[in-house]
Amino acid sequence: MRHETIEKSAGLLGVLTAIAISLGGLAEIVPLIMSREAVEPTPGVVPYTAMQIEGRDIYVREGCYACHSQMIRPFRAETERYGHYSLAGEAVYDRPFQFGSKRTGPDLARVGGRYTDEWQRAHLHNPRDLVPESNMPGFPWLSETPLDPSLTPVKMQRLRAIGVPYTDEDIAGAPALVEGKTEMDALVAYLQGLGTAVKGR
Ligand code: HEC
Repeated sequence: MRHETIEKSAGLLGVLTAIAISLGGLAEIVPLIMSREAVEPTPGVVPYTAMQIEGRDIYVREGCYACHSQMIRPFRAETERYGHYSLAGEAVYDRPFQFGSKRTGPDLARVGGRYTDEWQRAHLHNPRDLVPESNMPGFPWLSETPLDPSLTPVKMQRLRAIGVPYTDEDIAGAPALVEGKTEMDALVAYLQGLGTAVKGR
């Protein structure tokens, strides 16, 4: 009888539905905020270097996430192929995170160190030179496009504002690290750092 009253009143049903959903949301979100594991870096995880920040931005700009995830799930088929499953504390400095949800290509969460820098450059230039059956597009312009060092300190300041612990020296020294480098250099620096903090790959 009481149930019928609720169902017949759109306003009351709406309010009660909102309350029910909020409680469900809180039950999911609050433990995640309180859990240290989710907000503290896994031992060995350090903020990205100036070059890696630039490389990460190119990864996002070129839409690499549309074909590559960075999230190894805790299943045997995944850990045997890619290495230790991804940990929450590995993503604390990843803003926004690049977990992705599409795997046209392999997961990249632990690709760092799997190939040499030369392999990565050649592969990004034209994947089919190394993997004949690959359907990944080539990105040949990256090695001809210089980075803009004036933007790197700004990016680091913004990241610091949301909690990434860069020092004043890190920020002041950033332009010198980026000056004269290409977008290809930055992207390779980013890829080579992915997932390397966790051992047992
Ligand atoms: C259209 C989908 C597609 C896009 C976009 C794409 N890739 Fe790929 N990628 C693939 C496929 C498929 C493979 C597997 C074949 C190969 O190695 O070329 C691959 C392989 C790779 C590998 C080797 C991984 C391994 O473990 O062997 C790396 C590294 C990589 N891609 C990086 C990138 C980066 C960086 C970008 C963006 C600049 C990118 N990919 C964009 C599809 C894509």
